Amino acid sequence: MSQPTIDIEKIKNSSDGSISGMASSAFNEVILNNPYFAAGGGLMLLGTGLAVARQGIMKSSGFIYRQLLVDLEIPSKDKSYLWFLEWMSQYKNRSSRHLSVETNYIQHSNGSATTKFSLVPGPGKHLIRYKGAFMLVNRERSGKLLDMTSGTPFETVTLTTLYRDRKLFYEVLEEAKRMALKVREGKTVIYTSWGPEWRPFGQPRQKRLMGSVILDEGVDQMILNDVKDFLKSGGWYHNRGIPYRRGYLLYGPPGSGKTSFIQAIAGELDYNICLLNLSEKNMTDDRLNHLMNHIPDRSILLLEDIDAAFNKREQSDDQGYASGVTFSGLLNALDGVASAEECITFMTTNHPEKLDNALLRPGRVDFKVLINNASDYQVEKMFLKFYDNDMENCKKFLNKYKELGLKDVSTAQLQGLFVYNKRNPQGAIDMVENLKHPNNKF
Ligand SMILES: Nc1ncnc2c1ncn2[C@@H]1O[C@H](COP(=O)(O)OP(=O)(O)OP(=O)(O)O)[C@@H](O)[C@H]1O
Ligand SMILES: [Mg+2]
Repeated sequence: MSQPTIDIEKIKNSSDGSISGMASSAFNEVILNNPYFAAGGGLMLLGTGLAVARQGIMKSSGFIYRQLLVDLEIPSKDKSYLWFLEWMSQYKNRSSRHLSVETNYIQHSNGSATTKFSLVPGPGKHLIRYKGAFMLVNRERSGKLLDMTSGTPFETVTLTTLYRDRKLFYEVLEEAKRMALKVREGKTVIYTSWGPEWRPFGQPRQKRLMGSVILDEGVDQMILNDVKDFLKSGGWYHNRGIPYRRGYLLYGPPGSGKTSFIQAIAGELDYNICLLNLSEKNMTDDRLNHLMNHIPDRSILLLEDIDAAFNKREQSDDQGYASGVTFSGLLNALDGVASAEECITFMTTNHPEKLDNALLRPGRVDFKVLINNASDYQVEKMFLKFYDNDMENCKKFLNKYKELGLKDVSTAQLQGLFVYNKRNPQGAIDMVENLKHPNNKF
C-alpha cells in the first residue's frame, strides 16, 4: 500500500519545478522550504547546465566538423591560385555576391588585341555546387602581410566540403589547371624579371613557326638539331659531371632574324622565353645570379645585345657604386647555374668583336653562329613565302636583284619591301632599287 504514495510524491516533485531530478533529497528539502533560494539555485544550476551543454555542443560540432568536413587552402603564392580564380569566374553553378574585376588583354592571331573583363570571385564567401557536392569558397585577404615583390596583399582561398567529397578538390584543381594551360597551348610565354622573380610579360603570344624565319641554307636545321641533341643528352652530361647547360651566340647585322629565330626555336620545342635585360639600371650581380638560378621550367634564357650591357669588366658610377651588372658578375652567373634541369642560354649581338674572350669560352658560349644579311638563297625563299610560290615573278625579281649587284641587304629590309607590296609581286620587282638604301622608307 505504501508504494503508491511514494509514486505520488515523486510526481508532485517533478511537476513542482525543473530541479527535482538534479537535486539530492537533503538539498531538495532546503529548496522546498525556501522559495527564494530554490529559485536562485535553480537558475544557477540551469545556467551551469546550459554552459556545459553549450561547450559540449561546441566541442562536438568542432569534432563533427573535423570528422565530416575538409578544408583546402590555396595561398596566393601558389601557381594554382590564379588558375582557380579564373576557373571559378567561368563556373556557372555558383552563388556569389562579391565579385572583383580582372582585366586581361587578349592577343589575337592577327596581332590585334581586345580587352576582356573576368569577374572573379572577390574576397568573402561563395557557395558552389560541383558534381553534386556543395563547396564553400572563402577568399580572404590578410590585411597586414604584403607580398613585397608585387605589392599586393597576401590572400588565401579556402575550399570546404564534406569529407566524403574530398576527392573533388583534385578534380577542381585539375580542371582549373587544364583550363589555364589551354589558353597557353600553342603559345609562347615571355617572362621578364620583376624584382627577384620571373613574371609573364603580357599575354602568351602566338608561337612563331619555324618556317616563318628563313635563315641561310641549313643553318636553322643545324642549330635546331644541336639544341634537340642537347636536350636528349641529360644522362651523358650528368655521368661526366659536366653542368647540364649550353650557350648559343647568334651574331650578325641588325634585322637578320636572330630574335625571330630564337622565338621560333622556343615555339618548336614548346619552350618559353626568359628575357633578361642586362643594361637595366637596377639589375645587380646578385639579382642576376638569383634570376639565372630560378628560371621557370622549360624556358630558354635570352640575353639580347650582350655587348651593349658593358664595355668594362667593372662598372661603377660617379660615387663608385656598381650600377647594373658587371662583366665579371655575368661571367659568374653564367658559370654558377648549377641546377639539375637543363639550361639553354641564347645570346645575341651585332658586335661580336666587342665581346671579351672570357665570355666566349666554351662552357659559356658553346655554339656560335653568324646570322648574316640575306643570301641569294634567302632572297628567293623570302619572295616565294610572301607571294605564294610565284616562281615566275621570283625569277624576275632575282634577276633584277643580281643585276643591280645588291648586297648587304637584311632580311628585315626584304620583309619591309614585301609587306609594302602586299599581294603585288610586280610592285616589289619595280621597287628593288630601294633596297640599296637601308633606311629607305618606300
Ligand atoms: N631571316 C628572316 N626570316 C624571316 N623574317 C625575318 C628574317 N630576318 C628578319 N626578319 C623579320 O625582320 C624583323 C626583325 O627581325 P629580328 O628582330 O629577328 O632581327 P634581329 O636579327 O634580332 O635584329 P637585331 O640584331 O636588330 O636585334 C622581324 O619582323 C622578322 O620577321
Ligand atoms: Mg634582335
